[in-house]
Amino acid sequence: MNEINTNLLEETVKKLLAKGKGILAADESNGTADKRLQSVDVEGGEENRRRYRELFLCMDGLEDYVSGVILYDETFWQKDCSGEKTFVEKLEEKGVVPGIKVDLGAKDFPGFPEEKLTIGLDDLAERAGNYSKHGGRFAKWRAVIKIDEEKGLPTEEAVEANADALGRYARIVQEAGLVPIVEPEVLLTGPHSLETSEKVTKYVVKKVFEKLNEYRAYIPGVILKTSMVINGSANVDEASAEEVADGTVRMLLESVPENVGGVVFLSGGQTAVEATTHLDAIAEREPLPFEIAFSYARALQQPALRVWKGKDENTDLARAEFKKRLELNQLADAGDYDIAMEYLE
Ligand code: G3H
Repeated sequence: MNEINTNLLEETVKKLLAKGKGILAADESNGTADKRLQSVDVEGGEENRRRYRELFLCMDGLEDYVSGVILYDETFWQKDCSGEKTFVEKLEEKGVVPGIKVDLGAKDFPGFPEEKLTIGLDDLAERAGNYSKHGGRFAKWRAVIKIDEEKGLPTEEAVEANADALGRYARIVQEAGLVPIVEPEVLLTGPHSLETSEKVTKYVVKKVFEKLNEYRAYIPGVILKTSMVINGSANVDEASAEEVADGTVRMLLESVPENVGGVVFLSGGQTAVEATTHLDAIAEREPLPFEIAFSYARALQQPALRVWKGKDENTDLARAEFKKRLELNQLADAGDYDIAMEYLE
């Protein structure tokens, strides 16, 4: 049996969960990154995706707020505009831990209409070994779970199959020296209530930890990336930040073992301000038995993308927007955010 280097994993976890810092998810697939670019009238394609990544990864002072960045395979091997250093080398230079999305996407789950199963286990050991050899220190695998109460979703089978893959993924990448970010995303879309979100998220996260144990993952070397407990986006009753925080904290305390490496949140389609407000409310309920942090993609990058619009002359202004989101989330992570700060210059 291959051994797991527990010291290396714990060291990486410690860096990633450093107080006041979050993990930037800059790992949209090529297709999704192109869609984001096209939403601000910028053409997709490799070079524009590279420029989009550079906007965030090469910002001065990134390391003051960001402990690690999750990259997509294309970005992992790309160079910044100097043409001299890869993004991985650039991040290492700043003391930011490079990570890599290793799943190969959520595909239709045969026999289970509207549900998805994330794939990518077949050659994962080789791919993980290669990323590790070239500077990757952590990985991410995202499963998506859809709620539709009328249709009886999620099914037990979809939860079981996705949790199973997450458990196996975690052990495989740990053997390659990578800390697994385990991301079962319970989607926000739909009219479901906050109570349903709490019930489903708890069920899913519990199942994921069952599988992590079954496949002998080293739990202190695992980071859970979870959705917050929040009502569906088509539900007219908007839950307060306090209700979101109460539901999320209850879910965590009842489904996450205390010795987990840490817990980070995805934004999942919340607005940037909602994601920050909710993080702040959750952090105010600390002390939790584990570290928590933000790990957003959209809620950190979207406001900057709208300002940038693919134009070099907008880079400084766009980076200022990005920095503002980072600063406010840093405050929220300590429970020190106030919505009035959104309007301060
Ligand atoms: O896979 C999704 C990312 O890890 C988080 O993205 O914050 O836009 O939901 P998001």
